[in-house]
Amino acid sequence: MAMRLRQHTNPLTYRGSYQGPDPALLLGGPPTELEIGPGLGELLLARALEAPAARLLGVEVRRAYVEICQRALTEGGVRNACVIYAEARTDVPRLIAERSLDRIYLMFPDPWFKHRHRKRRVLDAGFAGLLATKLRPGGELHYATDRGELGSEIRHLLDGVAALARVGDLPPAAAQSGRGQHHLGRGDIIVGGRYARVS
Ligand SMILES: C[S@@+](CC[C@H](N)C(=O)[O-])C[C@H]1O[C@@H](n2cnc3c(N)ncnc32)[C@H](O)[C@@H]1O
Repeated sequence: MAMRLRQHTNPLTYRGSYQGPDPALLLGGPPTELEIGPGLGELLLARALEAPAARLLGVEVRRAYVEICQRALTEGGVRNACVIYAEARTDVPRLIAERSLDRIYLMFPDPWFKHRHRKRRVLDAGFAGLLATKLRPGGELHYATDRGELGSEIRHLLDGVAALARVGDLPPAAAQSGRGQHHLGRGDIIVGGRYARVS
C-alpha cells in the first residue's frame, strides 16, 4: 500500500529546543546567512557554491528533509553550509546573534491557509521584528512565494518593521530554491521581496 506523505510538517509539534552542536562549530565560524525551511537544500547548495566566503545555516523542522538536505550538501562538496533539525521560531532567537547576518532567506514558506492553522505560519509580527534584529545594518531578508495572499501578508508584516526598508522585489534566490524552480518551470506567478536593515 502506498504511504501517504503529509504535505507539510506542523511546526507546532516540535518539542524542546535544538540541543546539537553550535552551528559556529559546524561552519568554522558564526553563520552569515540563514535559510528558514530549506527543504531539500537546493538554495543552500547553490548559494554555498556561489559565495564560498559565506557561512550558511539552514533551519529545517522536517526531519526527513534535514537528512536529504545535509546529504545534498555533503555530496555537493560544500563545507560552508549545513542544516540542523530545529524550529525557526523556537531556536533562531537563541542560535543567532544580533546584528550578525548578511542574509535571511524565507523561500516558499508553508501557506497554512485555514484559519485554525494560521498559528503554524512561521512569520508573524513578533518574529518579523526578531529577524530584523539578527541582520547586520545593511543585511537583507529575502522572501518569495507562489501564493499571492501569503505574499501580501508577508509584505504587510515586513513593512511593519521600522528597522526594515523594502529595497526590491523578487530576489534571485527565488530561482535557486527547489520550489522556485518548480513554479518557474510551470510558468506559475511568484512574488517576493528584498528588505534591508536600515537602523
Ligand atoms: C514549501 S517548503 C519550501 C522549501 C524550500 N524553501 C524551497 O523553496 O524549495 C517549506 C519548508 O519550510 C519548512 N518549515 C516550515 N515551518 C518551519 C519552521 N517553523 N521552522 C523551520 N522550518 C520550517 C518545512 O518543513 C519545509 O521544508
